[in-house]
This record gives sequence, C-alpha cells and structure tokens, in this order.
Amino acid sequence: MLLFVIDLLGRTGPFSETLPAGIQAVVAGSAQKAADFHVNPPPAAQCASCHAEHFQDWSRSSHARSLTSEGFLRTFPQYLDFVGIRAREDPQVSMACFNCHAPLLKNADSEIIRRVAAFVVAKDINKLDGFEVGCVACHAEGNGVFSGPIRNPKGNLFHASKFSASYKEASFCATCHTWAPASIPCSDVYSDWKKSRAAKQGTTCQACHMAERVGITAVGLPQRKIRSHIVPGGRSADLLQKAVALHLKAAFRQEHLEVTATVRNLTPHRVPDG
Ligand code: HEC
Ligand code: HEC
Ligand code: HEC
Ligand code: HEC
Ligand code: HEC
Repeated sequence: MLLFVIDLLGRTGPFSETLPAGIQAVVAGSAQKAADFHVNPPPAAQCASCHAEHFQDWSRSSHARSLTSEGFLRTFPQYLDFVGIRAREDPQVSMACFNCHAPLLKNADSEIIRRVAAFVVAKDINKLDGFEVGCVACHAEGNGVFSGPIRNPKGNLFHASKFSASYKEASFCATCHTWAPASIPCSDVYSDWKKSRAAKQGTTCQACHMAERVGITAVGLPQRKIRSHIVPGGRSADLLQKAVALHLKAAFRQEHLEVTATVRNLTPHRVPDG
C-alpha cells in the first residue's frame, strides 16, 4: 500500500507500509483532513500515536483550551465589538489575541485568520482544533523538524528531531506570558518572575509548572524522566498548596486563644492572580 498525502507540515510525499500501525492511522487521518484547510496546522492528536503521555497531559492543560475556553469564547467577540465594525475583516485586529492564543496563525494568510476568527465568534469548537497552543506551536522548527530538550533523540519515521537548550529556560515561556493590559485577563507572569528570588536562584517556570516524572518519551522506547505537560496554574489545588506557606501559632492568653497566622508567598509572582 502506498499512501500519498499531505503530511504534517504540508509537504506532499509517499509513505510506505513500513510505517508502524499507529502512524498509519495518523497518516490516513491527515489525508482525510487534506480536503479541509486545517490539515495545516496539524492537530496535536497526530502526535499522540507516538507521544501518548505528552498528549494525555497536554489535553488536560489550559494550553489545549487557549481558543476554546469559556473565557476566550466570550471575550474575543467582545473585544471585536469594542474595536468596531471593521474588526471582523481586519486580520491584524484578531492577531492581537491570536499571537498568543493561536500562535500558528502568525504565518497564516489573511483568509485563514479571518476564518478562524469567525469560528471563534460562532463558538465552532471542532473547527478550532489544531490552532490552539499545541505541540507544533511549541516544538516545530520548520521543515519537518521538531526541537526539544533531549540531547540525543532517537530517530523516527515521522519527523527529524533536534536538541535546543531554550526549552529549559524561563524565557521560552516569556513569548506569551508577558502581556498584561488592564482590561484583559492575560497576566504578566514573566516580569514578576524576573524580579523574584526564584529567578536569582535559577528556578525556572518549568521547574514548578512542568514536574519531572518517569514515563516514556515515545512508544517503544525505555522509561526515562519526562516532563509533565499538564502545566497547572491557579486552578490547580495541588499547585495552590505549594503557593503559600501558612504558619499558625496558637497560645493561650488568659481565657483567650490567640492565633497568629503568617502567610508567605512562595511563588515568584503575585498570589492569587499569578
Ligand atoms: C502576549 C500574549 C497574549 C496576548 C496578545 C493575549 N493573551 Fe490572553 N492570555 C495570555 C496568557 C499567557 C494567559 C494565561 C494567563 C494567566 O492565567 O495568568 C491568557 C489568558 C486569557 C484569558 C483567561 C483564560 C481563559 O481562557 O478564560 C482570556 C479570556 C484571554 N486571555 C483573552 C484574550 C483576548 C480576548 C486577547 C486579545 C484581545 C488576548 N487574550 C491576548 C496571553 C495573551
Ligand atoms: C507551551 C509549550 C509546549 C507545548 C504546548 C507542548 N510542549 Fe512539549 N515541551 C515543552 C517544554 C518547555 C519541554 C521541556 C521541559 C523541560 O525539560 O524543562 C517539552 C518537552 C517535550 C518532550 C521531550 C521529553 C520530555 O518530556 O522532556 C517531548 C517529546 C514533547 N515535549 C512533546 C510534546 C507533544 C507531543 C506535545 C503535544 C501533545 C507537546 N510537547 C506540547 C513545551 C511544550
Ligand atoms: C512515529 C512516531 C512519532 C510521531 C508520530 C511523532 N513523534 Fe516526536 N519523536 C518520536 C521519537 C521516537 C522521538 C525520540 C524520543 C527520544 O529519543 O527519547 C521523538 C522526539 C520528539 C521530540 C523531542 C526532540 C528533542 O530533541 O528533544 C519532540 C519535541 C517531538 N518528538 C515532537 C513531536 C510532535 C510535535 C509530533 C506531532 C506533530 C510528533 N513528535 C510526532 C516519534 C514520533
Ligand atoms: C505560544 C504561547 C504560549 C507559550 C509559549 C506558553 N504559554 Fe502558557 N498559556 C498561554 C495561553 C494563551 C494561556 C491561557 C489559556 C487559556 O485561555 O486558558 C496559557 C496558560 C498557562 C497556564 C495556566 C494558567 C491557569 O490559570 O490555569 C500556565 C500555568 C502556563 N500557561 C504556563 C506556561 C509555561 C510554564 C510555559 C513555558 C514552558 C508556557 N506557559 C508557555 C500561552 C503560552
Ligand atoms: C517556585 C515555583 C514557581 C515558579 C518558578 C513559577 N511559578 Fe507560576 N505558579 C506557581 C504556583 C504555585 C501557582 C499557583 C498559585 C498562583 O496562582 O499564584 C502559579 C501560577 C501560575 C499561573 C496562573 C496564574 C493565575 O492567574 O492563576 C501562570 C500563568 C504561571 N504560574 C506561569 C508561570 C511562568 C510563565 C513562570 C516563569 C516565568 C512561572 N509561572 C514561574 C509556581 C511557580
């Protein structure tokens, strides 16, 4: 069997039946989607057949819902209305949000940007699949190469891999986590972090938000240390427990119980608003 499809980054080429079973399904799926414009960019699900753990984590993250969260679906149309009548036609207006909430659109043509904006306004969630802050947005180098923190990545049939030291640095997250106009709920965590003790000690965003655990980087490979992609935030009870140290001191003074509570912020940014 020979499949001729548009692959992940829009190149066309033949794929032989030597591909593993999982990837055959992925390739067939993307062939189907080739009819639709959003084959390019690829939905994260296309990475799942090999990177199952990363996909499961990411699916639970806010990054996976950067376009489809209730908050974004509500505020984006409000913002367009605020800008005025021409906003829906002008891709630059939408890009003021999409630069971070749909980063792959940075290189897209105006027509695609307009269509995605219309899907958000219509709350057509299925059509937004693939444009969110997904695997490709954070890992694609272009030309079918994906970069990451693994120094000597094993080869695979689907993509070339490349090591990049930037994945271990807080500045990697800064591309999107630095913007905070008063009217919009996109907090400027990076600037707070830069001034913090955590920064001086070299504690990166990843150290707190992408916990290390044992798992597999890709199917068929032995277990090793991987990084969680759930990236919890202020809505995570687990992480919140680590956000503040509550110190209680109780002492009896005559008949009264006197309790002194000291709350110390352990995060490098403001609590609770990040
Ligand atoms: C520079 C990057 C950037 C830009 C530009 C940006 N955002 Fe955000 N936005 C973020 C980040 C990062 C968060 C998560 C911040 C946090 O939780 O502290 C966020 C969070 C949000 C949230 C709250 C989370 C949710 O989905 O309910 C909404 C709503 C939102 N943004 C809407 C918008 C809208 C509308 C625009 C355009 C007017 C926009 N953003 C532009 C980076 C950005
Ligand atoms: C918001 C950006 C972001 C998104 C989205 C993202 N990653 Fe990552 N990924 C990272 C960072 C940062 C690291 C390195 C973390 C570290 O080592 O400190 C990483 C590490 C990895 C690694 C190396 C192994 C490991 O766990 O360290 C793989 C493989 C990987 N990601 C695959 C994926 C896949 C597949 C998806 C989509 C399902 C995805 N990533 C989504 C930022 C992202
Ligand atoms: C056919 C299986 C397969 C598919 C499909 C696949 N990958 Fe990979 N990927 C691998 C293997 C194998 C490695 C090497 C892992 C290692 O050496 O530990 C890898 C490594 C990576 C790395 C780490 C590179 C580094 O040097 O740190 C990233 C990031 C990555 N893949 C992203 C993706 C993304 C994004 C997709 C979907 C668009 C994807 N992969 C689809 C098999 C696959
Ligand atoms: C391409 C842009 C982009 C990059 C790069 C990025 N983020 Fe985000 N991040 C966002 C957006 C947009 C949101 C808000 C999603 C939403 O609407 O809920 C977000 C949400 C989050 C949240 C959840 C906030 C909450 O309240 O739940 C955390 C935590 C977070 N990001 C951490 C990180 C870390 C750590 C990195 C670096 C490893 C990173 N992000 C890299 C765009 C990005
Ligand atoms: C020392 C650990 C630590 C470091 C370092 C750290 N964070 Fe956090 N972060 C937390 C904790 C704990 C919370 C949850 C409590 C809160 O909302 O402040 C949080 C919350 C967040 C939120 C959600 C804010 C909200 O409004 O709910 C975002 C987004 C975020 N961090 C991004 C980042 C980024 C980006 C960096 C690096 C520039 C970073 N964090 C560095 C521990 C850390």
